[in-house]
Amino acid sequence: MSFLEFLLLLLVAYYVIYVLLWIVLDCNVALWFKSKFGVSLSSMRGQVVWITGASSGIGRSLALSLARHGVRLVLSARRVEQLEVVQEECLAAARGLLATKDVLILPMDMLQLQRHESNLFTVLNHFDRLDVLVNNAGRSQRASWTDIEIEVDRELFELDVFSVVHLTRLVVRYFIEQNGGRGHVAATSSIAGFGPVPFSATYCAAKHALNAYLLSLKLEMRKLDVTIFAPGPIATDFLQEAFTGEQGAKYGQSTANQKRMTADRCGELFAVALANKMDLTWCGLFPVNLLAYCARNPTLTKILGQFMTEQTLNKIREGKL
Ligand SMILES: NC(=O)c1ccc[n+]([C@@H]2O[C@H](COP(=O)([O-])OP(=O)(O)OC[C@H]3O[C@@H](n4cnc5c(N)ncnc54)[C@H](OP(=O)(O)O)[C@@H]3O)[C@@H](O)[C@H]2O)c1
Repeated sequence: MSFLEFLLLLLVAYYVIYVLLWIVLDCNVALWFKSKFGVSLSSMRGQVVWITGASSGIGRSLALSLARHGVRLVLSARRVEQLEVVQEECLAAARGLLATKDVLILPMDMLQLQRHESNLFTVLNHFDRLDVLVNNAGRSQRASWTDIEIEVDRELFELDVFSVVHLTRLVVRYFIEQNGGRGHVAATSSIAGFGPVPFSATYCAAKHALNAYLLSLKLEMRKLDVTIFAPGPIATDFLQEAFTGEQGAKYGQSTANQKRMTADRCGELFAVALANKMDLTWCGLFPVNLLAYCARNPTLTKILGQFMTEQTLNKIREGKL
């Protein structure tokens, strides 16, 4: 075998192993690598992380993962009683690393933009610093493209995009004034933000828009860390609250008995992405992780669209395949 043939063989082996990892792992390869060999979550001990949508699901699990390592937290959402439960759970998970004053409950409706600034002041008055903002609050959608009322398009964008952009701008301005632009903002996007998905057109467009906003921000502010975390199907209650195509309606379905990643695993991976200041990461069980890699490549996306019907893609998404 010539040296050139040997190099070619190595290259082929590299790609075969790489694609196998897409099948075997439950997240992108770089995130898996960081979870094994990257910076430990303990490196964030003492930092202040503000999580929106912390009252349930992914936000709650992320809060628990960070609390275990002594990260101080601001928990925001609308349901105060739920936030109180999460606060207690965080203190228990911290095993003495955090006191009650280290886990601040900050009730907040993301749609009330006029209150974002005073909410930020509350955080700064309490902790005298903010290290990371995690924009996690959001609602999904299930609806046929043709049935979606324009009011739903607007309302979903208000919550999943504009409220996030508004809060992030305030926090980034604070980072500029206080730290010369150093700081960290993150958002829970979705694999639906990488490529088209059926029966969630507005949601899919909103997560694409969110990614574009944050990637543009990163280009303008090189000292700022920006983390886009994109989960596939996760076992939370989010389908209960999901938008439909009709204004004011909620999908009201459960994710029970669907094949989905647990919220705890998702929160753990999200925390790794934050500790390692990763820019774009994702997670999902097979075949979602594989599809996420394909969705990031326009040619593969086109091929997938030709070989898989919208029903098949939807079944994968609902954890029925
Ligand atoms: N589960 C999945 O399969 C999946 C997949 C990809 C991406 N995601 C994303 O993950 C994020 C979290 O969703 P989840 O799955 O964890 O669902 P979830 O349990 O329903 O969490 C949604 C969170 O957002 C909060 N929220 C909703 N509307 C709000 C508002 N107007 N103001 C403030 N907070 C609000 C909710 O709290 P209150 O009701 O107490 O306000 C709740 O804490 C979302 O951005 C979602 O798009 C989820």
